[in-house]
Amino acid sequence: MKCVKLKGEKELVVSEMPEPIKKDGELIVEVKKAGICGSDIHNWFLGKPEGLVLGHEFCGIVVDAGNTNFKVGDRVTSLPISPCGNCQACQTGNLQYCRQTWADALGLSLTRLGALAPKIRVRSDMTLKVPDNISDEEVAMVEPTAVGLHAINLADIKIGDKVLVIGAGIIGLVSAMFAKKAGASLVAISETNMARAKKAIDLGDVDKYYDATSSNIMQEVMSDTKDGFDVIIECCGNEKAVSSALTLVKPGGTVVLVGVATKAITVPMTIAVTNELTLKGAIAYTKKDFKTCINLMVNKEIDVLKFVSDVVSLNEVQKAYERLTSGTDDAIKILVDPNKA
Ligand SMILES: NC(=O)c1ccc[n+]([C@@H]2O[C@H](COP(=O)([O-])OP(=O)(O)OC[C@H]3O[C@@H](n4cnc5c(N)ncnc54)[C@H](O)[C@@H]3O)[C@@H](O)[C@H]2O)c1
Ligand SMILES: [Zn+2]
Ligand SMILES: [Zn+2]
Repeated sequence: MKCVKLKGEKELVVSEMPEPIKKDGELIVEVKKAGICGSDIHNWFLGKPEGLVLGHEFCGIVVDAGNTNFKVGDRVTSLPISPCGNCQACQTGNLQYCRQTWADALGLSLTRLGALAPKIRVRSDMTLKVPDNISDEEVAMVEPTAVGLHAINLADIKIGDKVLVIGAGIIGLVSAMFAKKAGASLVAISETNMARAKKAIDLGDVDKYYDATSSNIMQEVMSDTKDGFDVIIECCGNEKAVSSALTLVKPGGTVVLVGVATKAITVPMTIAVTNELTLKGAIAYTKKDFKTCINLMVNKEIDVLKFVSDVVSLNEVQKAYERLTSGTDDAIKILVDPNKA
């Protein structure tokens, strides 16, 4: 079957692969829609691992349910992770802490190829059946939405807090949406891409944006907040963004680190010491976070379709990656339909 594979630095190719063969307790799912994620973009820049089929966010239909409790025709999504099920983390519902969780992750490991293909093999115990009244596009958005929810729950925002989100990609914008819901009185973003920054305002959850490349950002923030932001959600994962999080948060404030740096970075840690900052990492989600996001979509309490900028075919995926990394395009989330001609 046709798929998209990582070939080298910034290079994806349309290629052939064998149909997936399921193991015990697994399902074969036909992919309806798959998302392109900022984490995939890190792999794309590195060009590694070669041969990886990306795509860990999806909506699909079960076409082989094997000996599981699912039925052929069930519409589903899955947590892409691969927890062991036995360790203390797994047994307390914190699948994201399991040491095995990324070893065999969907679309993030060579052992379980991802959703930039017509069919995938997923674990039934990581799979959730989704209600009919949410669209395939919404279902494909559950995973990144759950990342933002998890981060905002860790941020412990108080009513009236001033919150800055650094980076207005999908993770930043979903975090901004939940920060507003959590009671923040000011939700600002900082961005290097002005097209995305302006779009963030139009989408309705963000009150103000800062140009991250401006030399005046510190003065502007101090005049808007008096002494810095109460909470900062860092959603880029690069040195400049993490450093600005440490400098723009108020003394005693909280920084939640969601962005994933792919190499060691140097940041002014002394500020964290002298200002007694709380630094928290946020990784992935729990199954409960996934279920909460599905329920919020079902009950129309959140609109995630506003973040979907385009739906493309497998042949158009390379171009979509170029668009998402141009630094000037306002696209936020691009979905892939493997059945689109
Ligand atoms: N912790 C987790 O569980 C988790 C899950 C998913 C994604 N991520 C990570 O979160 C990050 C964001 O993901 P995304 O899908 O939104 O990615 P994205 O690439 O679409 O968005 C990142 C945004 O940050 C902006 N940016 C870059 N440098 C900046 C700076 N110095 N100041 C302000 N803005 C800057 C970019 O212009 C871009 O719009 C990535 O690092 C990704 O790997 C983490
Ligand atoms: Zn993702
Ligand atoms: Zn485990």
